[in-house]
Amino acid sequence: MPSGRSAADDGPDLTTDERSFVAIKPDGVQRGLVGEILGRFERKGFKLVGLKQLTPSRELAESHYGVHRERPFFAGLVDFITSGPVVAMVWEGDGVIASARKLIGATKPLEAEPGTIRGDLAVNIGRNVIHGSDAPETAAFEIGLWFQPSELSDWTPADQTWRTEG
Ligand code: RTP
Ligand code: MG
Repeated sequence: MPSGRSAADDGPDLTTDERSFVAIKPDGVQRGLVGEILGRFERKGFKLVGLKQLTPSRELAESHYGVHRERPFFAGLVDFITSGPVVAMVWEGDGVIASARKLIGATKPLEAEPGTIRGDLAVNIGRNVIHGSDAPETAAFEIGLWFQPSELSDWTPADQTWRTEG
């Protein structure tokens, strides 16, 4: 066993194929931030397995944000998210759900740490540029809501062994 690793590290890594749904909201697309945001996930080392641009229907937006249906901001949120193109993505990798939320930063951009997407690129909660799944169950639900299985690519980056040991 290499030094610094525990016995627990030697078992099968069951979370390597974890996937998260991430979407650049209409404000991010309108402001020309797609490349900037995509690049941050690429540079981190996650694998892009799904990518498309679409203007969501109200039905799609209401399902996606269904958990907020009773909140006062719900109607405005649905109006906003359906107002123009969204870049929908699925990223894969060990721990990607929690890591994507860290890369994204706090919901209120003025409270998001510098270095995060919202911390660097946004000022207003209603224009916070990006969405990321918050848990495994929501990730599975959102990926199924936004993507057909045939739209997701199973592939291995040529430099995979330079990203992940073992
Ligand atoms: P998201 O779902 O978009 O990734 O954002 P989040 O998890 O950080 O925050 P969440 O609580 O799920 O809220 C969803 C989105 O609703 C808008 N919001 N507005 N005006 C308000 O008080 C308010 N609260 C939430 C934000 O656009 C937030 O991203
Ligand atoms: Mg949320």
